[in-house]
Amino acid sequence: MAELVELYEVGPRDGLQNEKRVIPTADKLALIEKLSRCGFRRIEATSFVSPRWVPQMADAAEVMASVPRRQGRSYAVLAPNLRGYEAAKLAGADEVAIFVSASEGFSRANLNTSIAESLERLKPVAESALAARLRLRGYVSVVTDCPFEGRVEPEPVARVAGKLAALGCQEISLGETLGRGTPQAVAAMLEAVLDVVPARKLAGHFHDTGGRALRNIDVALEKGLRVFDASVGGLGGCPYAPGAAGNVATEAVARHLAASGFETGLDLDALDDAAAFAKTLRSGT
Ligand code: HMG
Ligand code: MG
Repeated sequence: MAELVELYEVGPRDGLQNEKRVIPTADKLALIEKLSRCGFRRIEATSFVSPRWVPQMADAAEVMASVPRRQGRSYAVLAPNLRGYEAAKLAGADEVAIFVSASEGFSRANLNTSIAESLERLKPVAESALAARLRLRGYVSVVTDCPFEGRVEPEPVARVAGKLAALGCQEISLGETLGRGTPQAVAAMLEAVLDVVPARKLAGHFHDTGGRALRNIDVALEKGLRVFDASVGGLGGCPYAPGAAGNVATEAVARHLAASGFETGLDLDALDDAAAFAKTLRSGT
């Protein structure tokens, strides 16, 4: 039997957060409804961040109130602080994702604080999520390249990933935020992280600015990773990462994995339908 690889869908969150036009909540829910027919185990639905920072996610509670709940599927959301976590829990999130940076420049731009302070701020979030038996995911951003500092060395990435594991994150997603990392840089980064966190606890999160995301996924597969984040229709980007393009498209990753002999459990026709709809939500369409 083909080996399973999980695709963790981030379209409704990472895909939409960078859109300049405020997308109606009903359209976000329509996208999630389409994604819910594709067979994902987990969908990252929204984020409980400051609406001053990311106005697109201001309707997080409304989105979570109406997501189609089905057995065997869970909804994850981002929380940058205790306030976001409390709101996420109240809204019925199944999984909470905290996020930190491997570079000080991106940490300041994305979270308005240093790496050390962000980890300190997230400690009570992690403790509360674990006490409430919510699944806890941690993101490390800018794992190969930072828009403000250039090349990011593997050591700080491994250090921050280790700190997230120590906070109790069951899964750590390695964010190649800029989408410019080379397979060589990704391999070096993974070797350092794997000294600290086992592959079964890691996910790959590749943006595709440089068109190398699928090759980078192949490198991560070789290193033993079996969970990858992707965004249907290739939507996305981070508002605090100038120059970054969308996440790697889920339908492209699903086909690439199938061609490489892996099973994702996804319905490709349903995925194409969701991708076509996702593309209509892009600015200018
Ligand atoms: P701050 O300005 O330092 O903190 O922001 P603050 O406490 O002064 O808050 C500012 C305002 O936001 C205040 O409102 C707070 O009440 C409010 P005001 O008094 O001015 O009216 N506020 C909140 N409102 C709702 N929910 C909350 C919340 N917290 C504060 N949870 C803060 C610090 C962390 C809040 C801010 O920097 C923030 O929200 N940052 C999030 C930025 C973001 O969402 N970035 C994109 C997601 S990360 C990403 O995309 C990367 C990833 O995909 C992986 C990869 O690709 O690398 C995950
Ligand atoms: Mg991202």
